Amino acid sequence: MADTTVMDKLVSLCKRRGFVFQSSEIYGGLGSVWDYGPLGVELKKNVKDLWWRAMVHARDDIEGLDAAILMHPRVWEASGHVAGFSDPLVDCRHCKNRFRADDPRIKGTPGQPDAQCPVCGSRGTLTEPRMFNLMFKTFMGPVEEQAAVIYLRPETAQGIYVNYLNVLQSSRQRIPFGIAQIGKAFRNEITPGNFIFRTREFEQMEMQFFVKPGTDADWFERWREWRMQWHYGLGLAPSRLQWHQHGPDELAHYARAAFDIQYEFPFGWQEIEGIHNRGDFDLGRHQEFSGKKLEYFDQAANERYLPYIVETSAGADRVALTLLVDAYREEEVEGETRVVLGLHPAVAPIKAGVFPLVKKDGMPDLATALYHDLKRRFPAFYDDSGAIGRRYRRMDEAGTPFGITVDGDTAAARSVTVRHRDSMLQERVGVDQVGDYVAARLAGVD
Ligand code: GAP
Repeated sequence: MADTTVMDKLVSLCKRRGFVFQSSEIYGGLGSVWDYGPLGVELKKNVKDLWWRAMVHARDDIEGLDAAILMHPRVWEASGHVAGFSDPLVDCRHCKNRFRADDPRIKGTPGQPDAQCPVCGSRGTLTEPRMFNLMFKTFMGPVEEQAAVIYLRPETAQGIYVNYLNVLQSSRQRIPFGIAQIGKAFRNEITPGNFIFRTREFEQMEMQFFVKPGTDADWFERWREWRMQWHYGLGLAPSRLQWHQHGPDELAHYARAAFDIQYEFPFGWQEIEGIHNRGDFDLGRHQEFSGKKLEYFDQAANERYLPYIVETSAGADRVALTLLVDAYREEEVEGETRVVLGLHPAVAPIKAGVFPLVKKDGMPDLATALYHDLKRRFPAFYDDSGAIGRRYRRMDEAGTPFGITVDGDTAAARSVTVRHRDSMLQERVGVDQVGDYVAARLAGVD
């Protein structure tokens, strides 16, 4: 399959099966903003829950936080976003399209007569590049004036830095310790695209780990290792994951060292998570701009210092897309094409489909009772319409790992058939055991 075809097929499956819809579709859609349907919201929630479990619940040294999206405007001056969170933008005076100045499709130098617009093909119509800040602005209160400007946060990290002392004191943690947060972020990207890969509204899963200066390089390496293991644990193909180290020209203004975890998408190797050694840049800047001391006092060593920060920053939407891309496959089965999402059971939106083989002989009653029983433990789906093969296929496309069929033997033998999505093999399991059977196979990563 051509790479573009894979993405087209995935986008169409996501709409058909209720994973992802275009935002405001009945009005023609809103550029690079997406809504998650019934299956998509479960998939993304599973990603976030697994991240939270690995980062917060399974550890003693990380606390959770849910900071507000709206923050004091000085935060974004201190962070460097007001001055520097910009991309160079060029306009085509002829067709009115906008591009990043470094868009590889542009021929020639923007602003010069030889430059050619990649959309309408006109020459000499591209403007000189001008810096365009990616933060969305809005106004606080009833007056729309400069003094009332605030921003939708472009990253969740700053909510953690400004709360670091609150969390430290209220949780009685000691350094080294971390703060984790999941939440929405907004960027007015000039060239968003590739479905939910780069969007204007997205969710980040960020963790900031506060360490003693001098121990940062060591912690940085540990976090690199742990984060890659987490992605392996989601069931992603290891051969499609790699590290990308930021060279000196790529490093963000705050970073002493940075590595991206990249995945091989149909549109190339791209970042899904960044691990950054941010030194004392963030706390130093907030200390300077707020005038509040943010130093840590180490009682045992009787010393005071500004902690360094090791950050892990992943996109929940990007991880969800990665899982979908990695899971999508087509197979020939008995002369028909079977579309399967081979999702790890821990992230699959529905864990089990429950089917009465036929709508008679008491099978629907038995199947309904089993379905209600299972649904109390994990998401399950009841389907009694159409041939059993069709019902299995519908669940294959939704990524459901187990199909449970109530048949003519169920009542007497007190057993059902469990059909495995990937191998399509079937086995007999007791009605009273099938809940435990499925639950035992849902364990995720820590
Ligand atoms: N606090 C550091 C930070 O925000 P980043 O590399 O700009 O670093 C971190 O973003 C992660 O957030 C990325 O690896 C990606 O998964 C996700 N992300 C960033 N911009 C995004 C966008 N426009 N759409 C979807 N996800 C995005």
